[in-house]
Amino acid sequence: MLQGKHIVLGITGSIAAYKAAYLLRLLVKKGAEVQVVMTPAAKEFITPVTLSPLSGKPVVSEFFAANDGQWHSHVDLGLWADAMLIAPATAASIGKMAHGVADNMLITTYLSMKAPVFVSPAMDLDMYKHPSTQANLKLLQSYGNHIIEPGFGELASGLEGKGRMEEPEAIVEYLEQYFAQVAEMSGKRVLITAGPTYEKIDPVRFIGNYSSGKMAYALAGECARRGAEVCLISGPVQLETPAGNIQRIDIESADEMYEACMKEFPTCDVGILCAAVADFKPICVADQKIKRGAEDLCIQLTPNQDIAAALGRIKTADQKLIGFALETHNEMSNAQNKLQKKNLDAIVLNSLQDKGAGFRHDTNKVSIISATETLDYPLKHKQEVARDIVDYLLNNLHLN
Ligand code: CTP
Repeated sequence: MLQGKHIVLGITGSIAAYKAAYLLRLLVKKGAEVQVVMTPAAKEFITPVTLSPLSGKPVVSEFFAANDGQWHSHVDLGLWADAMLIAPATAASIGKMAHGVADNMLITTYLSMKAPVFVSPAMDLDMYKHPSTQANLKLLQSYGNHIIEPGFGELASGLEGKGRMEEPEAIVEYLEQYFAQVAEMSGKRVLITAGPTYEKIDPVRFIGNYSSGKMAYALAGECARRGAEVCLISGPVQLETPAGNIQRIDIESADEMYEACMKEFPTCDVGILCAAVADFKPICVADQKIKRGAEDLCIQLTPNQDIAAALGRIKTADQKLIGFALETHNEMSNAQNKLQKKNLDAIVLNSLQDKGAGFRHDTNKVSIISATETLDYPLKHKQEVARDIVDYLLNNLHLN
């Protein structure tokens, strides 16, 4: 999986830097081409003389070479790499990465990186536990970086706890698994609906809901990361389209989402219906702003199309459909009813009763329900939930 891959190995100033030489050796043995980038502090722990013969390339540490002024381009490195691995990553470098403090070659390279970034923290247990380190790691994760959890054990301080850089063999395995997953959905086209819909009342007002689109966008990013072509049909959200092969179609109303889905679904292998579609729309849309009056105002509503049910009706034997159900009560039976009524292959249930689940949060707690099983997952970051859902699609629904 690592054969021919271009990897930027970033090394920061931790005692665990000594393990980086072995890590580099393992990566090269697996066939990867590795460019080492060190912070000035890292050079206090291990010298470039050890690392450059192992990688077969001069180590980069400064913005330009002191002897001849040759510029080291962090931008070129960002374009060259298939992955950047920062191991060991100190609390200081993690903090700089989280806040964009680009004061050395490693951080500028990180900020220029187009490829996925893997961070392997190494520090003393109290530094690792500190709320600022944890908040910085969460930030890095929310930017789509992969954190390779440190291990538990004896630390350089003599203390025992969590903070040891993961072992080089395990880091290499993590990368191999990542690249194996990248190929899993290649050749597949996935339709994902996202966000709320806005149903117009008059030129300045609408009926909407609190959906942020975060779960759907995490799913779009995850499917693209695994090699799928994604068609993201999105209601109004404040989110950037994730990296990868994602065609985004912006819509506003449920009718527009319905039209787009009916057009795109026949050429898709999977539909993941994450949008919080408004169930009703006003029968009449005022063409001028409705003015304040003394009387009560009634807006008569009519049901929107059920997009999931419509796709469930035209679904072929080779296509898979996954829906979502956000419930406040009778969660399980409501979700099971929807699974059946809409002819879905699975439904992802989240309950508003669970803290940290549902709209607007960065986290979610879900159960995935099919006709034959129910799997319960703990509270996780939405990116990890997206990984679980895609794993489920591949392993349990046997997308072929
Ligand atoms: N859905 C849809 N079109 C709609 C309503 C819902 O495609 N008009 C999809 C959602 O994207 C979700 C699933 O159907 O995947 C369940 O949505 P939910 O709002 O929970 O279900 P409803 O059928 O609208 O039921 P209710 O709101 O009454 O609970």
